Amino acid sequence: MELTNKYIVIKHYIEDAPKESHFKVKSEALGLSLEPGSDDVIVKNLYISIDPYLINRMKSHSASHNAISFATPLIPGKAIDALVIGKVIASGNAKFEKDDVVLGVFTWAEYSVVKEQSIIKKLESSEFPLTYHLGVLGFSGLTAYGGFFEICRPQKGEKVFVSAASGSVGNIVGQYAKLLGCYVVGCAGSQKKVELLKEKLGFDEAFNYKEEIDLNAAVKRYFPDGIDIYFDNVGGKMLEAAVDNMKAFGRVSVCGVISEYTNAENKASPNMLNLVYKRITIRGFLAADFMNVFGDFTDKTLDYLRDGQLKVIEDRSLGVESIPSAFVGLFNGDNVGKKIVVLADD
Ligand SMILES: NC(=O)c1ccc[n+]([C@@H]2O[C@H](COP(=O)([O-])OP(=O)(O)OC[C@H]3O[C@@H](n4cnc5c(N)ncnc54)[C@H](OP(=O)(O)O)[C@@H]3O)[C@@H](O)[C@H]2O)c1
Repeated sequence: MELTNKYIVIKHYIEDAPKESHFKVKSEALGLSLEPGSDDVIVKNLYISIDPYLINRMKSHSASHNAISFATPLIPGKAIDALVIGKVIASGNAKFEKDDVVLGVFTWAEYSVVKEQSIIKKLESSEFPLTYHLGVLGFSGLTAYGGFFEICRPQKGEKVFVSAASGSVGNIVGQYAKLLGCYVVGCAGSQKKVELLKEKLGFDEAFNYKEEIDLNAAVKRYFPDGIDIYFDNVGGKMLEAAVDNMKAFGRVSVCGVISEYTNAENKASPNMLNLVYKRITIRGFLAADFMNVFGDFTDKTLDYLRDGQLKVIEDRSLGVESIPSAFVGLFNGDNVGKKIVVLADD
C-alpha cells in the first residue's frame, strides 16, 4: 500500500524574522511495506511541537549549530525534524508494534519514517491528554523545572521575574514559583496575556512590555527592592533591564533569547559592573542537562496536575499546512501557552 505524505521544508536559509513565504509544502509517495530486515518504524503523526529554537537551525550560521546534536543546521528542501507524538502504522523494529503511541524526534509531516538510532519511545496511556507530553510533562516542563529549580535554587518568599511569561516555558516557571511561595511578576506582549497571567495563573503582577517606553522603569515599578531571580526567555533589552534591577547575589537563568534570534541588533549588553558589585550569576542551560532529574520533575508535576494546582495552556492549530504560520506566530507573540499543531486525534 502507498500513500501521499505532505511535509514542510524551508525554501532557503532564513537569516532574520521567518515569514510563511519562506516555507513550502512538499509531497511524496510513501510505501507502507517495509523491506525484510528493515528496522524502520512508520509513524502517523498526531501532534507536532512548535518550538522557537528551530529558527536558529534554519540559519546558514548560528552560534548554536555546533553546540549539541539537535541544534545542527537544517537543509533547505529537506524534511525538518521536531518533537512529535504519533501512532505506529508499520514497524520493522521489534520494540514497536502497530498502534503503539510514540513520542520522538520525527518530522514536520503527516507521516514520518523513523530510522534505527532515532529518538523514539512508547507512551503509556495516562489520565492526561497526550499533548501534555510535548508541553507541561515534556520538553517545556523539563526546561521550566530544571531552569528554575536546578539553576536558580529558589527559596520561598523570593522575588521572581519571568519574561515571555504566557509562553510554553514561561507560564510553567511562573506557576512553579507561585507554588513554592515566591512573589512572581511576568511580562508578556498583550493585555489579554497580562490578564491571563494574573487571573488564571495566579501571578502577583504582570505587565505588557510592548506598552512600556522605559523597560528599566517598568521593572523597577514591580520590584522596588530588587529581583532575586530572573528567568530569561527573551534576552535583549529585557535582560539588560532585569540585570539593572537585580538584588545582590541575584540569579539569572538564561533559557532563551528569542528577541535576538530574529534580529542580531537586539543583542543584550548587560551592565557588567552590576554583575561584579552585586555578585550576580547569569547562567545558560539546555533542557537536556536535566535528564538526571526527569523523574523528580515528572513526580512533582503530576502531583500538581492531579491536585489541579498547575493550569495547562495549549494553543492548537490544525493540519500540516498550518505549521509555517504556527511557527512564524511564535515570533509575533500569536501563541498563548504551548504551541501544538494537531494532525489527527489518537
Ligand atoms: N534552554 C532550553 O533548553 C530551552 C528549551 C525550550 C525553550 N527554550 C527557549 O525558551 C524561550 C521560550 O520558548 P517557548 O517554547 O516557551 O516559546 P513560547 O514562549 O511559547 O513562544 C514564544 C513567545 O516569545 C515571545 N516573543 C517572541 N518574540 C519576542 C521578542 N522579540 N521579544 C520578547 N518576546 C518575544 C512571544 O510572547 P509575547 O507575546 O510575550 O511577546 C511568544 O509568544 C525561547 O527563547 C526558547 O528558545 C529554551
